[in-house]
Amino acid sequence: MSTSSSSVFEPTALLTHPVIQAPMAGGASCPGLAAAVSEAGGLGFLAAGYKTPEAMYEEVRQVRRLTGRPFGVNLFMPQPGTADPAAIDVYRERLADEATRYGTQLGETGGTTDDAYEAKLAILYDDPVPMVSFTFGCPAGEVLERFARLGTRTVVTATSVAEARAAQEAGAGAVCLQGVEAGGHQGTHRDDPRDEPGSAGVGLLTLIAQVREAVRLPLIASGGLMRGGQIAAVLAAGAVAAQLGTAFLVTPESGAHPLHKRAMTDPLFTRTELTRAFSGRPARGLVNRFLREHGPYAPAAYPQVHQLTAGLRRAAAEAGDPQAMALWAGQGHRLARELPAGELVETLAAELTAAREALS
Ligand SMILES: Cc1cc2nc3c(=O)[nH]c(=O)nc-3n(C[C@H](O)[C@H](O)[C@H](O)COP(=O)(O)O)c2cc1C
Repeated sequence: MSTSSSSVFEPTALLTHPVIQAPMAGGASCPGLAAAVSEAGGLGFLAAGYKTPEAMYEEVRQVRRLTGRPFGVNLFMPQPGTADPAAIDVYRERLADEATRYGTQLGETGGTTDDAYEAKLAILYDDPVPMVSFTFGCPAGEVLERFARLGTRTVVTATSVAEARAAQEAGAGAVCLQGVEAGGHQGTHRDDPRDEPGSAGVGLLTLIAQVREAVRLPLIASGGLMRGGQIAAVLAAGAVAAQLGTAFLVTPESGAHPLHKRAMTDPLFTRTELTRAFSGRPARGLVNRFLREHGPYAPAAYPQVHQLTAGLRRAAAEAGDPQAMALWAGQGHRLARELPAGELVETLAAELTAAREALS
């Protein structure tokens, strides 16, 4: 077992406040958002997922132009090419009417499934950033060790005790625990097609308690956190910092689509669900027409279903129709506040202090 990076890792060294802005692939966590959060004493994150290596690197350079403070970059782990082609074909047929409805084509699914992982690693080895986190799996020990040697802190996302143990075994610097409440994709290391989406998911406070007793790495807590009082709770339970996605998605700096931002507090959308409908991997979003109609039979085929529905989702957004967009949101979405990102960090920090004082 490698311990080279775990012993030197302390994520709070990068933070004034224990608040991390979650990486959000698809546009929300743009350089402007990441820089604003880091400037305010939190830790901003870029999401490399779905981007070309060059686009990822351009965003890294943009953040560096905007702030001298630390920030992170998040990578998607390559996915096994095990998706059932017949199941993808059946789903394609079932979505044909949606393509007609939005006057578009369904996407081709023959592309790669590795999200240019190796090329992105090569850039981050060449020109290191303060923190790199991984989702959808655990990198090889050599990768984590190399980052540790370069002075880059590493974080592996986990949704269970077994995944957190695997991260520790591989030599990760920290674990980002993602509760079932979390918005967007569950970072589960392997999506089991036999599972109902999210059926194995554990609530954040339970997950922290379980992992705290099994793993000695620093824990970052994420999922449903919208207020400083909740951050106080996860710190009391054993986390060193909190990672918030939905709370930052609605800020003016976030690059999320305006319809996505508006939907968070729109009374039209009353609840969230975990679904494979948009991407082929369980992800939590606001329940809209597309999720309701196609979620029940969407196959476990990521990223093929993502590729299949990309044009549809774009066409729906262009038509101003949130009912076929992937409205990723955590369970706390109705608590979203439209504050500038820096002000949100400060507000969360003040609420955290107040909660701690109330407890002591
Ligand atoms: C729109 C959106 C996109 C996301 N994209 C990513 C991503 O690219 N990588 C990642 O590790 N997590 C991603 N997540 C999950 C977050 O890291 C985090 O676990 C989640 O936002 C926490 O739950 P919350 O949204 O309730 O705060 C995303 C979440 C959202 C809402």
